[in-house]
Amino acid sequence: MIRHAAPADHEAIRAVVLAAFGQSDEADLVERLRAAGDAMFELVEEDGGEIVGHILYSRLWADSINLYAALAPLAVRPDRQRGGVGKRLTTASLETAREFGVHAVIVLGHPEYYPKFGFSNDATAKVKCPYSGSPALMALALEDGALDEALLVAYPEAFNG
Ligand SMILES: CC(C)(COP(=O)(O)OP(=O)(O)OC[C@H]1O[C@@H](n2cnc3c(N)ncnc32)[C@H](O)[C@@H]1OP(=O)(O)O)[C@@H](O)C(=O)NCCC(=O)NCCS
Repeated sequence: MIRHAAPADHEAIRAVVLAAFGQSDEADLVERLRAAGDAMFELVEEDGGEIVGHILYSRLWADSINLYAALAPLAVRPDRQRGGVGKRLTTASLETAREFGVHAVIVLGHPEYYPKFGFSNDATAKVKCPYSGSPALMALALEDGALDEALLVAYPEAFNG
């Protein structure tokens, strides 16, 4: 079952994110984003009462009236990786992002993974942000033309550590 995360899930989410990345940076990022009020939404996949995957979207500050979001992090419990959890969470989250009115999603992640969902580095050609130039920077427009004009994007403070 995929559902929105509740505060009661926070401890279990931290455990999943820590285990998935094998370090605390991403789990700490999640907590900083929440504390700053910059988390847009979080989805979890629950199986047998346990959280096996988590995805978070946060606000981006763009020089546009349109809403842009960052996908980060996405984490699947190690014993459940390569079993479709990440795919389900990513697909569901893009649908949720559309419902939130997000015009485009930006991610810094595995260049072999996110293109499966339509993300591409090419789509960031007009995006100026702290990660511009990295092959790991990818974007997906959810509204036509959302990435066609020059776009200056700032990340929430939480990303600065
Ligand atoms: C990367 C991660 C989120 C993928 O989730 P997952 O549930 O293991 O992956 P899925 O089972 O949904 O895989 C979907 C597809 O992507 C492929 N895939 C999985 N992990 C991949 C990776 N790291 N790189 C490239 N492709 C990958 C799968 O083989 C599968 O391919 P298919 O659809 O052709 O069969 C998960 O492995 C994870 O939490 N890793 C550690 C933390 C991390 O790196 N997070 C992402 C940060 S950008």
